[in-house]
Amino acid sequence: MAPSKKKATSAEKSRNTWSGRFDEPVSELVQRYTASVGFDRRLADYDIQGSLAHATMLADAGIINAADLAAIERGLSQIRDEIRSGEFVWLLELEDVHLNIEKRLTALVGDAGKRLHTARSRNDQVATDIRLYLRASIDEIVRLIHAMQHALLDLAEQHAYTVMPGFTHLQVAQPVVFGHHLMAYFEMLKRDVERLSDCRKRMNKLPLGAAALAGTSYPINREMVARELEFDGVCENSLDAVSDRDFAIEFCAAAALVMTHLSRLSEELILWMNPAFGFIDLADRFCTGSSIMPQKKNPDVPELVRGKTGRVNGHLVALLTLMKAQPLAYNKDNQEDKEPLFDTVDTLTDTLRIYADMLAGVRVNADAMRNAVMRGYATATDLADYLTKKGMPFREAHEAVARAVRFAEQSDQDLGALTLDELQKFSHFIDEDIFDVLTLEGSINSRNHIGGTAPIQVCEAITRARKWLS
Ligand code: ARG
Repeated sequence: MAPSKKKATSAEKSRNTWSGRFDEPVSELVQRYTASVGFDRRLADYDIQGSLAHATMLADAGIINAADLAAIERGLSQIRDEIRSGEFVWLLELEDVHLNIEKRLTALVGDAGKRLHTARSRNDQVATDIRLYLRASIDEIVRLIHAMQHALLDLAEQHAYTVMPGFTHLQVAQPVVFGHHLMAYFEMLKRDVERLSDCRKRMNKLPLGAAALAGTSYPINREMVARELEFDGVCENSLDAVSDRDFAIEFCAAAALVMTHLSRLSEELILWMNPAFGFIDLADRFCTGSSIMPQKKNPDVPELVRGKTGRVNGHLVALLTLMKAQPLAYNKDNQEDKEPLFDTVDTLTDTLRIYADMLAGVRVNADAMRNAVMRGYATATDLADYLTKKGMPFREAHEAVARAVRFAEQSDQDLGALTLDELQKFSHFIDEDIFDVLTLEGSINSRNHIGGTAPIQVCEAITRARKWLS
């Protein structure tokens, strides 16, 4: 008889829950290939929480009796303790977190354990677990973003009057205050929080009750389970409930944007820390030295944030690709949603945790910022605006200032250092009062409207931001 035709022994059969239907057990490689317990065990707490709510409902609906419910509660509570203390024995042959817990429950409480899976499938079970996990993760991530926003606000407040070059094309453009620059990141993170909260709202619907795909013939009470698990409602189509992973994709998209924002800030910290800029210094605990060049202090942490943004973007694409051609309803493909999702959560939470602390340790060299803005003809636009306000058409003013900059450049001076006589060569509109405009403070103070860089506006923006956070 060929080995593949050999009848499975009962010991072999017991390796799979459904083995009554099968002649032979899966090979070891297939077992390893199809198992998810190596990574989905992190859902254990949520799996237990979902099972408790499900069992409570089953008892309430008279589908199981009170004694069974009590046994299930006792067993699951013990399993939770075993998992938390590390005693729990995870078995690869039991495939995933759900079957591992169910088998242990049955071992502990007997038939009641076998009744837990009534009116349920692993398909609606896993969909529920991931939503519970991700909902808690979002809450933690939002808390961490808020902490980082507080750190940004503290630094922005200290530097509401610190002038630095504002850049376009990474060339000196116009003076801004450092606090204003930092507040741009506050805005980005504020949108991130809004996106995550929005994603949480759509995610917060209960899949349980969908069972394998079509619903169940038992008299279940989905609303009760939803309330118990603090969902805002139930998924309204059973096929969609078990197959939908939009919420995971939305979360990864929101996470990719947070990382993109942190990556941009990282890039700036790296540039600013370069001695050619010398604008800031990072605390030593976020940097490393070189094994060969003794003078080096490398901004490893911001570099890694920039680098890790790549993997989070990758996870988003992985999930989109995972879902793109799946027919309804559940397919085993969906098991592949977990690792990208978990790694996204881990990467983002670690990054945010580090970032708040790193910002608190930033040392600012205000003189270097000021010198850089002085070297860049940053008040040229102010001169053009001055001429326009005196009656010169803006395009002509632009041209006159371009000539003035060229002259200043040839004599290696800033516009503010030119004499009145020299300046008047470029336009007869120029008067004594020009020097108010050509100073850095004159320039920033004049941008005095909501969203502008005038320090008074920056202070107001910080006040609004603190209110938003509270
Ligand atoms: N481990 C599986 C997953 O993560 C659980 C659902 C399995 N369902 C099934 N019909 N095989 O998706």
